[in-house]
Amino acid sequence: MTEYKRYLITAALPYANGPVHIGHLAGVYVPADIYVRYLRMNKKDVLFVCGSDEHGVPITIKARKEQCSPQDIVDRYNGIIKKSFEDFGISFSNYSRTSNDLHSKISSDFFKTLYEKGEFVEQTSEQYYDEESQTFLADRYIVGTCPKCGAEGAYGDQCEKCGSSLSPDELINPVSKLSGAKPIKKPTKHWYLPLDKYENFLRSWILDGHKEWKSNVYGQCKSWLDGGLHPRAVSRDLDWGVPVPVEGAEGKVLYVWFDAPIGYITSTQECSADWEKYWKSEDTKLVHFIGKDNIVFHCIVFPVMLKAHGGYILPENVPANEFLNLEGDKISTSKNWAVWLNEYLEDFKDQQDTLRYVLTANAPETKDNDFTWKDFQARNNNELVAILGNFVNRVVVLTNKYFAGKVPAKGNLTDIDSQALAAIAEAKENISKNIENYRFRDALKDAMQLARVGNKYLTETEPWKLIKTDESRVATILNVCLQITANCGILFEPFLPFTAAKIRTMLQIENALWENAGDDNIMQEGKTIGEVALLFRKIEDAEVDAQVEKLKAAKAAREAEEAMNAPVAAQKATIEYDDFAKLDIRLGTILEAERVPKTDKLMKLLIDTGIDKRTIVSGIAEHFTPEQCVGRQVSVLVNLQPRKMKGIESQGMILMAEDANGSLQFVSTEQKVKNGSSIS
Ligand code: 2FM
Ligand code: ZN
Repeated sequence: MTEYKRYLITAALPYANGPVHIGHLAGVYVPADIYVRYLRMNKKDVLFVCGSDEHGVPITIKARKEQCSPQDIVDRYNGIIKKSFEDFGISFSNYSRTSNDLHSKISSDFFKTLYEKGEFVEQTSEQYYDEESQTFLADRYIVGTCPKCGAEGAYGDQCEKCGSSLSPDELINPVSKLSGAKPIKKPTKHWYLPLDKYENFLRSWILDGHKEWKSNVYGQCKSWLDGGLHPRAVSRDLDWGVPVPVEGAEGKVLYVWFDAPIGYITSTQECSADWEKYWKSEDTKLVHFIGKDNIVFHCIVFPVMLKAHGGYILPENVPANEFLNLEGDKISTSKNWAVWLNEYLEDFKDQQDTLRYVLTANAPETKDNDFTWKDFQARNNNELVAILGNFVNRVVVLTNKYFAGKVPAKGNLTDIDSQALAAIAEAKENISKNIENYRFRDALKDAMQLARVGNKYLTETEPWKLIKTDESRVATILNVCLQITANCGILFEPFLPFTAAKIRTMLQIENALWENAGDDNIMQEGKTIGEVALLFRKIEDAEVDAQVEKLKAAKAAREAEEAMNAPVAAQKATIEYDDFAKLDIRLGTILEAERVPKTDKLMKLLIDTGIDKRTIVSGIAEHFTPEQCVGRQVSVLVNLQPRKMKGIESQGMILMAEDANGSLQFVSTEQKVKNGSSIS
């Protein structure tokens, strides 16, 4: 590892508009924590900073929806996020928040410095404005059709479907998220950071100077640079954020992506009087851990801000990860399709390391990956319980049983013993190399390999069979096993800190220094070990099935909530009474219902209309089972021209309520009404 005097490690500031989910953990916080723990174990001077990102439109939108203040929202989620990180063992040196006064001052001063140096371009331009709510529609306040992929509901700053960065002007058919109205254009003044001026600097710093960056990061930077950089607005017309600190900027705040990365500086200042050493000395290695959607901000925009300011170092690496999906679908806070860390910690008490393990073993380091509860269960039961847990448990139990808890003598080593012991140094070397190169998945595999070797060695040498005949051979076997176990207690520390600590307690090892690992005589003869403790418990089918059900229920509840809040369709054109009078709508009862074969949507119904019993084919099969239909009273348009559907003549139409999501409900009367009664 290139020697640096100190390390400053940052992890992306999570938005305080919801709890942290497994996608955030796998992409950012778990890898960052592994790296930091490894550095600390190597006695490096390291600060690990983070905090809540408390500005930005998603937060104000949520506050409006819940009819509370943005401060209420961020207070709530900052509390939840901070506690869940602590409980999960993410070992920040400091966890700050961007709504605090210190941050306001630091980011405001940062802006002022750039302003006074003449780094900004001041420009008045026409921007979308919602007349009804008298608001400029920045970022997520405006939605429309994505010009890149055609998806509906793309935001003014990004399309969630295809991931493209957008500006409100690019949206097709933009509407205000606040009122649903079509916005007008109105002039407004903003401050722009001329990224284009820094193109040459970025090209030589990244494209020539950091060819070693991960290919996804390097590739994204190259494509931004090749696409040509443009000035970027760093202010917004909003009433939530850090006020723009210059005259004539009333009602304007710093763009959230301007103040958020400065949050790393705030967090450092909060926890170290020597903060300047970490930010301003070339002896410091600065590494940003982020997800792939943050690459442009950390590799292009923030470095330009730092460079324009002057006096700050730039990141040495930005090991961004790809995305983690969940049960085959994109994780989404807004769609409530996520495993939330705070809920995981409640449902799986004291099982932080199982999640840390699964997220690292399946980390989206080079491509998007999928988290499934079945895989979570399999990795826990087949790897953690069956290999690491089983091995450590047998070693501690047998040492206590055969040697009264004292490390037995090593004696003479055979080939099989030496080979097992050789795995220790090999594991240490491989893990170190992989962690230093941000390959955490491989590093964890290397650690598991050591446990696998130990488990296999124990199974093959069968000390429980030899104990009656050859106690000294058993002593050797358990001595070898104890050396491996002790090394697991150190080498697993970056990945599974709770488990590694339990192993060290069982083996009465005091500290977890990397320099102590790799040694095949770490457990000296005669040393006393402690009692056995359970490392992992088996996870049952019912537990993971319940989690999948919970996910589906949460998503359905959110869809229903959205549909309830969605604007209803506009009224249709006015009609004459005579047009209405032509409709003959009656109450009828569904007598029989069956799906129309080879279709997803159609249901064949037999309906007692009070006039007759007739067949009607209706597109309700995706919403109801035949059993849910039979016996229901429905409104029937009986004088609609019959028409054939899939060869069946449909003699009318049943009327249903349809919400914004296209989900259908029966419209029923409070009491049963005689079939054939008119609705008029
Ligand atoms: O994407 C996000 O969740 C942002 N809140 C990350 C901010 S990182 C930093 F710059 F603060
Ligand atoms: Zn798109």
